[in-house]
Amino acid sequence: MRKKALISDFIRQASREIELPKQVGIFDTTLRDGEQTPGVSFTPDQKLLIARQLDRLGVDTIEAGFPIVSGGERNAVAAIARAGLNAEVCALARCVKEDIDAALACDVGCVHVFIATSDIHLKRKLKLTREQVLERAVKHVEYAKKHGVVVEFSAEDATRTELEYLKRVYREAVDAGADRINVPDTVGCITPRGMYYLISQLKPIIKVPISVHCHDDLGLAVANSLAGVEAGAEQIHATINGLGERAGNASLEEVVIGLRAFYGIRPSIKTKLLVETSDLLERSTGIAVSPNKAIVGENAFAHEAGIHVHGVLEFPGTYEALSPELVGRHRRLVLGKHTGARSVKSKLGELGVKATDQQLVEVTKRVKALGDKGKRVTDVDLRAIAESVIGGLPPEEKVVELKEVTVTTGSTITPTASVRVVVRGGERIGSATGVGPVDAAIAAIRNVMEEISALRLKEYHLDAITGGSDALAEVTVKLEDERGNLYISKGVREDVVIASVDAMINGINRYFAGRK
Ligand code: KIV
Ligand code: ZN
Repeated sequence: MRKKALISDFIRQASREIELPKQVGIFDTTLRDGEQTPGVSFTPDQKLLIARQLDRLGVDTIEAGFPIVSGGERNAVAAIARAGLNAEVCALARCVKEDIDAALACDVGCVHVFIATSDIHLKRKLKLTREQVLERAVKHVEYAKKHGVVVEFSAEDATRTELEYLKRVYREAVDAGADRINVPDTVGCITPRGMYYLISQLKPIIKVPISVHCHDDLGLAVANSLAGVEAGAEQIHATINGLGERAGNASLEEVVIGLRAFYGIRPSIKTKLLVETSDLLERSTGIAVSPNKAIVGENAFAHEAGIHVHGVLEFPGTYEALSPELVGRHRRLVLGKHTGARSVKSKLGELGVKATDQQLVEVTKRVKALGDKGKRVTDVDLRAIAESVIGGLPPEEKVVELKEVTVTTGSTITPTASVRVVVRGGERIGSATGVGPVDAAIAAIRNVMEEISALRLKEYHLDAITGGSDALAEVTVKLEDERGNLYISKGVREDVVIASVDAMINGINRYFAGRK
């Protein structure tokens, strides 16, 4: 990261009165609260794979799940607990003996015990009095603690609980053996100042680490988590990509970078693995990360406006708060109607094309005109424009050439494709099955080309250029390599499968050209 880039004088002045914790633990709840995202459900194998990635990332605690909910969940939590990870593995339990037993049976090192404490939850959901809730909290913290595990205690809906009662619940939970207490903003209804005040009230009376768990209903989960730290919280609950119930939880990548950038606090996270981890969750959940999502969004380090591109090419700090490499990304210059000649020159340079000043002006004008039509201007478009303005571009080297593709498909057979390609002069033949003919054809190409194993198909678009069943199909694919570089390419044919294969082959050639 550019040193202290974000610790401005304003932050320094405002931070003078606060006593920050020396370290902040990251309690990852992607596999528990994150899995509560509507429509998301992981298989036990997926959970283990994600847990291993979270462990590589360096989170302190992995909340692996809520074992009482199902047999599959118990198996998954137990497999994670027994996988020999460095992170502490935790399981969630209500203040119910069977829940705690189910968690303990998974061999976890930590049990996260919770019960709601707000009047609205007591009256409308639990139908219990405050005294009954207090008694249950104490009894179950004691019960879990008796089994020798770390116990974290949460007062659900803490931010809507009457303060004196909340203090009493937390104090008694700690007396009963809780090793950490967690303050959930269950419905995302607090403000940063409110969270700061609440943690400041708890800090003098709670002698164990305090954690915050914020939901994003009003878009403040990260701000509220950081405000909790400003007041002395030593742990943050977070999820990759901000997954979670309703609007989600505090996004792990944002809190980690926020802690580093604003306060100089470095959680034990390998930040270079943030994008990779975000991608894994995107693939496993099927929930796309918005391009403009902070830190891990595809556009987080992309620049289009001429003024900005000029700035970053001179000195990246002019328009980048942090360097993309810190989080495992690369800077991208994007072409569109805001593009200036400098971007065009730099992009042409990447394609190995030199232009005179006059040609550059003309290419830029045409790029802008395309952008004005609402079109995304891809490298393919730039090449076509440059070709018509400058002429005679160096030929795009073709490492792979498609010789033949055959597919069989139908309502009663598994779609199968075979391909014959020539790679650097050598012929290769292979086949594969898929969920459909396009999937099978792409899988067949992958089967014959081990050298593209790291290349990921990030996006696939199919457009019909003309109407009717004989319409020309335009397929655009976006491939991403292991370094986060994107290769956008197209194929246009009457046959969707062949257009898809063409687009793939063009993208693969572009990938090889970029690696020279
Ligand atoms: O949001 C919440 O209150 C929770 C609890 C289980 C801690 O997720
Ligand atoms: Zn939650």
